[in-house]
Amino acid sequence: MKTHSVAVLGGDGTGPEVVREAIKVLDAAAPKHGFKLNYTSFDFGGDRYLRTREILPDRAVDDLRQFPAILLGAIGHPDVKPGVLEKGILLRLRFELEQYVNLRPVKLYDARYCPLKDKGPEEVDFVVIRENNEGLYTGSGGFVFKGTPNEIAVQESINTRRGVERCLRYAFECARKRRGGQSWKGLKAEDAKQGKKSQLTLCGKTNVLTYAFDLWERAFHEIGASDYPDVKRDYAHVDATTMWFVKNPEWFDVIVTDNMFGDIITDLGAMIQGGMGIAAGGNINPEGTSMFEPIGGSAPKYTGKNVINPLAAICAGAMMLDHLGETQAAAAIEKAVTRVVHEKLKSLAAGKMGYGTREVGDLVASMV
Ligand code: IPM
Ligand code: MN
Repeated sequence: MKTHSVAVLGGDGTGPEVVREAIKVLDAAAPKHGFKLNYTSFDFGGDRYLRTREILPDRAVDDLRQFPAILLGAIGHPDVKPGVLEKGILLRLRFELEQYVNLRPVKLYDARYCPLKDKGPEEVDFVVIRENNEGLYTGSGGFVFKGTPNEIAVQESINTRRGVERCLRYAFECARKRRGGQSWKGLKAEDAKQGKKSQLTLCGKTNVLTYAFDLWERAFHEIGASDYPDVKRDYAHVDATTMWFVKNPEWFDVIVTDNMFGDIITDLGAMIQGGMGIAAGGNINPEGTSMFEPIGGSAPKYTGKNVINPLAAICAGAMMLDHLGETQAAAAIEKAVTRVVHEKLKSLAAGKMGYGTREVGDLVASMV
């Protein structure tokens, strides 16, 4: 039987609890679709750091490199200075494993959970592709005259033609796939009926960041015109993008953007799809080790209370299966999540679901 080896990094706060439910669901789906999952757990995170001062040893990065996929819970501990674990674990893995795409579907499963007036699942259904290895996240920059009145802090946005291009190509491919209606990035039924073209929107700031987004824009049109003429090209400034997310989310199909803008717009994206309880993402290296995570963070105040919503982690698990080629199992999990959301839950927020964390996991597992 086909076996996939998966590294599991529960991490901090509610991370381990939600990952446990994701594994429960994955294990329910696997036998029905003829494959097995083999898990190896790693305990990196705040607790281990406070105990041993070890963040992520080099050897661990090499160990993780051996896996096709990592399932990650959350990183961030209230007793550890902000940035230490985020940079030392999460960002380090994204960078060293060259997970150059951060794939964040923004999909509303039930109109009840959308804070936007008159918008439902038909309107809120797009994908954000965030460049994940460059931009303002590389740590390039520094201080001059630190701690004096003349202090200067520089934080540089790094945009390489190679890095931008590989991200754009992934985005064009994704847009093309949505039109083909493949797997769970499937084109909306209505659009397919109307024979609508898939569309890729570049989200930038060409009116101010005239070097970085000049490069992005040129690469976007060059690649699009030569290799993806079937994908409609569209552009929106990042500030306008946040406005459209609220006003006309149905205008979007696939959005591609840089690391910082992608970070910001996907939090807004999470809110319009029902909140952090449901939002999942994948850090993708198409040729190497990819890492899937709920995007909500470690939520320390809910730790161990059986109240956190595990659906985001479960959806991250589904994305992982999709990535591993188990597209049917991924679709089955997504369908089960949709049913649970429709038929069972009172809310997607922690403590208000009408069920506990484990019970939500049981419900999804029973429906896959
Ligand atoms: C995210 C998070 C991270 C980021 C933090 C925790 C470093 O906000 O995954 O969006 O900024 O990328
Ligand atoms: Mn973020």
